[in-house]
Amino acid sequence: MSRLALYPGSFDPVTRGHEDLILRSLAFVDRVVVAVAVNPSKQPLFTLAERVALIRDAIRHPAVEVQSFDGLLVEFARRLGATVLVRGLRAVSDFEYEFQMALMNRQLAPKIETVFLVPAFDLTYLSSSLVREVARFGGDVSQLVHPAVAQALRQKFAS
Ligand code: PNS
Repeated sequence: MSRLALYPGSFDPVTRGHEDLILRSLAFVDRVVVAVAVNPSKQPLFTLAERVALIRDAIRHPAVEVQSFDGLLVEFARRLGATVLVRGLRAVSDFEYEFQMALMNRQLAPKIETVFLVPAFDLTYLSSSLVREVARFGGDVSQLVHPAVAQALRQKFAS
């Protein structure tokens, strides 16, 4: 039976750090669905459709699919038949939020396991919010994101 993982997040926008974790996930699952949250509590820079399209541009792999979801992550995971949730841990500061989320998801869906992955060393400082901030002020993000994302950021901040 093929094993499916969900890699959920806001991806506003997808970074090289996300790409790294998606590819690392394929070491222990057969397929990964990148699950892009609608997240009404956040005011994203990119629309949902833009975030989905940019991930599709950045990751072209036959075992990776991109879908958006609204509502509870574990319900979406159940609907797709995913048994693993992948999250990245970059620093101690990520831990508390991630730990709470993992325990809550386990409370809601005991059969779904959260797996934490550590990104490549040179990507540990990277976050979507830092990328947005650097791009907003005209800084060079070409090493941090796929060229399609860098282009989309330039367009967003051009006006
Ligand atoms: O990239 P982010 O913003 O840290 O991702 C957070 C995300 C989208 C994974 C989280 O907010 C989420 O799962 N939202 C869906 C709603 C949900 O299931 N909430 C309960 C999780 S404890």
